[in-house]
Amino acid sequence: MIIAVDGPAASGKGTIAKALARHYGLPCLDTGLLYRAVGLNVLKNSGDPDREADALTACVFEDALLDDPALRNEAVGSLASRVSVHQAVRNALVQRQRDFATQLGGAILDGRDIATVIAPDANAKLFVTASVHVRAQRRFNDAASQGGHPDMDSLIADIQARDTRDMSRDHAPLRMADGADLLDTSDLTIDAAVQKAIALVDAQLEGRRIG
Ligand code: DC
Repeated sequence: MIIAVDGPAASGKGTIAKALARHYGLPCLDTGLLYRAVGLNVLKNSGDPDREADALTACVFEDALLDDPALRNEAVGSLASRVSVHQAVRNALVQRQRDFATQLGGAILDGRDIATVIAPDANAKLFVTASVHVRAQRRFNDAASQGGHPDMDSLIADIQARDTRDMSRDHAPLRMADGADLLDTSDLTIDAAVQKAIALVDAQLEGRRIG
């Protein structure tokens, strides 16, 4: 069984994917981490994220890089979004994601193109979203709780820029797949969003849609 969870930055898709993984007892892959590793690696190589050749070179990295806490930085998220527009980068990462998706027993993947490109035959597909303001507020709270001094206006501008790039790129743009259920988490607590996600997935698995 494959469950695909797609959506924009800070929509809550990662939290929901992890909760679904616990609920259904499945392994979970945060595919954004792969693009973040490429983004961080470009930086380490002093390459240009907007140059396809530099971004492709950065696709070769040790698995240990996936545990680097720097991957979680906003700046690395933005680099990831920039390298992810290149077709060569997407091609370089596709097999790893498909291998994870098709492992025995099933898997959950979250990202931008899971239900559209990586696993279009997934058994259940969710598109998780939230308003730009709510997503920026989540980023604000995360940064403030870690002792940072975030600026709400620049967080909003970053999220809007990332949405625009991820949704308007030529290759595998972020969009809701045919057959996916929309889950708007703007007004939901984490618990409520997870319960709704489980109900939507259960309904898709049983062939009765409630979305
Ligand atoms: O989910 P995230 O914020 O960690 O993703 C970082 C960037 O990586 C995102 O802005 C676009 C890119 N990405 C992608 O193109 N395809 C995916 N499946 C996952 C992430």
